Amino acid sequence: METTEKAKLYVGGKEIELPVIVGTEGEKAIEMSQFRKQTGYVTLDRSLMNTAVCQSSITFVDGERGILRYRGYPVEELVKSNSFVDVAYLLVHGDLPTPEIKKDFSHLLNINSLMHEDMRHFFDRLPRGAHPMHILSTMINALAVFYPNVDQLSMDEDIKISTARLISTVRTMAAFAYKKSIGEPVVYPRIDLSYCANFLNMMFDSPVLPYRISEDAVRILNVLLILHADHEQNCSTTTVRTIGSAQVNLYATISAGISALSGPLHGGANQQVVEMLRTIEREGSIEKYFERVKNHNDPTKLMGFGHRVYKTFDPRAKIIKEECHKFLNKMNINDPLLEVAREVEKAALNDEYFVKRNLYPNVDFYSGIVYRALGIPENMFTVMFALARLPGWIAHWREMIGMETKIVRPRQIYVGKTIRHT
Ligand code: ACO
Repeated sequence: METTEKAKLYVGGKEIELPVIVGTEGEKAIEMSQFRKQTGYVTLDRSLMNTAVCQSSITFVDGERGILRYRGYPVEELVKSNSFVDVAYLLVHGDLPTPEIKKDFSHLLNINSLMHEDMRHFFDRLPRGAHPMHILSTMINALAVFYPNVDQLSMDEDIKISTARLISTVRTMAAFAYKKSIGEPVVYPRIDLSYCANFLNMMFDSPVLPYRISEDAVRILNVLLILHADHEQNCSTTTVRTIGSAQVNLYATISAGISALSGPLHGGANQQVVEMLRTIEREGSIEKYFERVKNHNDPTKLMGFGHRVYKTFDPRAKIIKEECHKFLNKMNINDPLLEVAREVEKAALNDEYFVKRNLYPNVDFYSGIVYRALGIPENMFTVMFALARLPGWIAHWREMIGMETKIVRPRQIYVGKTIRHT
């Protein structure tokens, strides 16, 4: 909403007034879109550290106070009383589903849970040993080939179906990718199982050893997926909005989001946290690892720590830490890496280097330990993140195509050679 407040700026010998926009939670922004037209100047903001790229009504994050809300609901409340499917519906459609709507949405997810049979042959040609995130982005991009009507963006019904197909099929693809990697026959989705129970069953059921679905495992998987479901303008979501602004189809757009998420500074961090904890355990010294982290000539980071937005505890990390502890106790799992993680967290929170820079555990610090306890292999951790983030990406894509009419096209400051001749 535009306010009566104006920002005044003196530049190039003249004074200009810029409108001030305020969000529903009081965040203020100076509207810069006409700035170059008015002054001939552009703004330079490397890595978009201080630029709001859109107005959005999906997710609210307050990094100073450690707040995360989806469509107004605190995540702490959502994880207590809702399933991941409820939250996916909330993010994409704006409200929690009524029991009737939930029934319809679950039906749509169920009937779209099978992968196109021809895609399986395509799947089979991918090299064994490929990282599941790369397999996933390839397969999702390929969906547009198998379901070409996704290009008819204006047809709302198609978008509803494409959305359900994505949320449902990606889960099937993730489980198929895992089964392929271990050389076991694939397990098809079942209509009688909930979204998370179905996923665990497709991952772990086998003809020789039927999988016993535990309610605790289903519950904690729901919690993890809910906590990863959206996080406003992170790298992959901004990628989705940027690419989508060129009116690229939904599947290609989501595939690009998955590629962005695969980076170790983004979604790939959860896998790296476990590798780091193992290194610390092997070396037997947190100090030794911290020395590398603090040395600016060494690229080592304390993985699972620090965040561009949160300058206090990441609220997701707080919930996962507590849930992780409860789940491992209940299942009688003794994971030595949990002890290492606790010690690393304690040491970092009492170390001046991390305190001075406001570095706290982020969502990835404890999530890998829960995934390990669920039996999910490390190279699938980032795939789990992608599975969870899908509703957020889809919600942003839908919001973007509904309100932005212009293609995203930033400026740059050219610093290369001035004109020269051959
Ligand atoms: N370990 C050690 N030092 C760190 C870390 C870390 N994890 N994170 C930030 N710092 C230091 C930086 O070196 C910098 O120090 P300096 O001021 O002496 O140069 C200072 O803290 C500020 O950090 P920036 O790099 O400016 O922070 P930025 O906002 O750019 O980076 C990021 C955020 C990428 C998440 C970073 O904290 C990081 O690399 N963390 C580890 C990877 C990780 O856990 N990623 C997952 C993030 S959550 C997610 O994507 C779901």
